[in-house]
This record gives sequence, structure tokens and C-alpha cells, in this order.
Amino acid sequence: MGRSGKLPQHIAIIMDGNGRWARERGLPRVEGHRRGIESIREVVRAARELGIRYLTLYAFSKENWGRPKREVNFLMSLLSAYLDSELKELEENDIRFNVIGRVGDLPPGIRKKIERNISQTRNHKALVLTLALSYSSRVEIVDAVRQLCRRVQLGELRAEDITEGEFSKALYTSGIPDPDLLIRASGELRVSNFLLWQISYTELYVSEKYWPDFRKADLIDAVEEFQKRERRFGKTEPEESGVKRLSLTSGALR
Ligand code: FPP
Repeated sequence: MGRSGKLPQHIAIIMDGNGRWARERGLPRVEGHRRGIESIREVVRAARELGIRYLTLYAFSKENWGRPKREVNFLMSLLSAYLDSELKELEENDIRFNVIGRVGDLPPGIRKKIERNISQTRNHKALVLTLALSYSSRVEIVDAVRQLCRRVQLGELRAEDITEGEFSKALYTSGIPDPDLLIRASGELRVSNFLLWQISYTELYVSEKYWPDFRKADLIDAVEEFQKRERRFGKTEPEESGVKRLSLTSGALR
């Protein structure tokens, strides 16, 4: 990153291609997931080093419950181990842990670990790491509509006061700025029910790499591509947002 450029404040990632990565190597799909955890570790560390403030990873969709039981169980055991093994890293690196999705769908043991990690990292400031778990953007939007309707019924809110801002606050991502950059691994050109409301103005970047091969250099490639683009938010003037301008030298970062 040799140029001076805007650094995305919030990067969201659709981690995809674990199964294909494994199949191409004649390995069971679950090996792709196991290796995908290593990519998560490296990307979280790299995001922290680059100064990204929010990183949101699509770890398990609501649709993923429909996979074979054995694969779902394996993903849950990986998640459980990840929640234990990464806590120290989060604590040492000032990373706040967060989740979005229907967390109530997850097994109780995992919910406990999630609550522990959220609580133990709640005052951390450098990076907010959000895992989307049992997540569906359409369900999130429906949940937000229900919440707003309830508030209208209770007389706390008037229908005409439901603005875009009020709606955003009813989403699971309340308090988190919309992503500046959405990365999708494995070359697929789909949004897959991820952050549909929040990515209205987000720059999209598709990496050909399968997620288990996606590493720090790939994150940097995506950020560099982002820095080349000019976001206008539908207006004619270049943006004047609070996005930071940084000068980074590639040797130091890679
Ligand atoms: C799927 O690739 C990707 C996921 C199911 C989400 C990401 C999951 C991990 C990185 C591993 C588990 C991590 C946690 C924290 C639970 P795919 O199986 O859809 O790949 P394919 O499209 O090639 O079949």
C-alpha cells in the first residue's frame, strides 16, 4: 500500500470456498473449515495491524443449518474451540468481540462462551470483531420490523418517525457503521443474504481465492483496490466522510 489512500473503517467478509478447497485436495469438506479458521486468525490480526476499526465475518448463515448434521456439528465444535482459543488474542490486542444473528439458535454451551467473550472484551477499543452466526439478513430485517411495530403498538414511536436512521438502529448491527468494503472469497458473484440493508453504498470486492487460501496479502489487495475507487454515495462530489487517510508502505505491511 504505497499510496496515500482512504482506509476502510469497516470491512465485511463472506468467507466461502472451504468445501471446494478441500475437494480439490481430495480432503473431506471439514478440513477446509479447519483451515478456514487459520485464515480468520490471520485476517483478524492483519485488520488490527492495518488500523481497520470494524471487521464483520459471515461465519454461519441461517441456511447453513440445512447442511448434513455431521458438518453442522463439526462447524459448531470448531466455533466452540475458536471462542476459547482466541479470547487471549482478543484481550492482548484490544479487540472487542461481538456477534450478530439469531444467537438463540446456537447450542447453550456456545452461547455461554459468546457471552463470556463479549463481556470480557467489552471495553476494548482498537477493533470490533463481529461474527455473523445463524445470520440471515432478511430475518434481521424482519426482526427489525417486528421490533419497530411493537414500539409503535406501545406508543413509544410514531410510524411517521421511522426513518432510515431509526430502522438502522433496530438492526443487529446497531451502533456499527455500514461496511465500506465487502469482500467475497472464492470468486462467486453473490451477496448471499448478508447485510443487505447495510451494504447499500458498500464497495464490493471479489477474490478468486478460496477462503482457506485467503491471507494477509489478499486483505491488503482488497484494501488497495478500495483505495483506488472513489465513493460518491450517489452524489457528484467526492465523499467527505470521516474515513481516515493513511499513507502505508507495502514492505512494512506484508
Ligand atoms: C463455507 O465454505 C464457509 C462457511 C460455512 C463459513 C465460514 C466458516 C469457516 C471459515 C470455518 C468455521 C468458522 C467458524 C467461526 C464456525 P463452503 O463450505 O460453503 O465452501 P463451498 O462453497 O466450496 O462448498
